[in-house]
Amino acid sequence: MIKGASTLIDMRLLAAQAVAREAGAMARRRFLDHSFTVGFKGPQDFLTEVDGETEAFIAERLLEIFPSDGFIGEESKARPAGEGGAAWVVDPIDGTANFARGVPHFCVSIASVADKVEVGVIYDPMRDELFSSRRGGGARLNGALMRASPASELASSAIEVGWNTRAGPDQYVDLLRRIAATGASPSRTGSGALALAYVAAGRSEGFVEHHIHAWDCLAGILLVTEAGGYVNDFLRGDGLTKGNPLVACAPGVKDALIAAAAFEGVTI
Ligand code: IPD
Ligand code: CA
Ligand code: CA
Repeated sequence: MIKGASTLIDMRLLAAQAVAREAGAMARRRFLDHSFTVGFKGPQDFLTEVDGETEAFIAERLLEIFPSDGFIGEESKARPAGEGGAAWVVDPIDGTANFARGVPHFCVSIASVADKVEVGVIYDPMRDELFSSRRGGGARLNGALMRASPASELASSAIEVGWNTRAGPDQYVDLLRRIAATGASPSRTGSGALALAYVAAGRSEGFVEHHIHAWDCLAGILLVTEAGGYVNDFLRGDGLTKGNPLVACAPGVKDALIAAAAFEGVTI
C-alpha cells in the first residue's frame, strides 16, 4: 500500500475512535437519565430518538473531517462516496431493544470500507470498552491486543445466535437446534456488534445470524479477522447495501460452525 493511503487509514482509525467515544458518552447520558421516548419501526424493531440524534452527530463529525467519504447508516439515507471511494458504515446504537428496555448492553459501531473493511471500531459506553482495529494492524481492546479463543470444538464453545424478524420462527428455531445439537452453549444478548467484539476478544467462540446488515457487523468483522478469527465473505454480492448471512468464529471451530449454521453460500 502506498504511504499516503496508509496515513489516511490511520487518520480514519483515530477519528472513528474519538467519535465513537463521544457518541457513546452521549448515548450513555441519555440511557442513564432515560430522556427518550420509545417507538417502533416495525414489530420488535425498537427506535428511540437517541438513535437518529447519535447517527446525525457521528455523520457530521466524520464528514467534516473526510468530506469526500460516503456514509451508510442505519437511520439515514446513504450518501455516496466521492473520490477515493471509502465509505463510513455506522450503527449509532446497536442493541436498541436493550437500550429501550433499560438493559445496559449496547454500543456504537463505526467501520470504514473501501474494497475491504479498513477500520472497525465498537464502543461500549456502559463498560467503557473500546474495541478497535485497522486492517493489518491487529485488534485491540482499550489498547491491548486481543486474540480469538483457542477452542477447537463446539462442545466447549459459547455461540451467539442472532435473531431479527427477517427470519421466521421455524428458520430461527431450526438454526438454534442445529447449534445446540453440536453441544455448544447458544445465547442471544441483543447486540450483534458486541457479540462480534466478544468473539474477537476470545470471550465467546462464535456468532451466527441468517441475515444481518452491514452497519451491524462490518466493524465486528474486521475485529474478528484481525484477532485471528474466521468470518465468511460478508461483502459478496450486495452485502454492503442489502446484507448477507454471517458466520464469525474462533479459527478452531470454523468448519464445525459453518456446517451447523448451514447458510446458503457459506461453505467450508
Ligand atoms: C440488531 C442487533 C441484533 C441483531 C439484529 C440487529 P439493532 O440491531 O444487532 O443483535 O441480531 O440483526 O438488527 O436494531 O439493535 O441496531
Ligand atoms: Ca444494529
Ligand atoms: Ca441500530
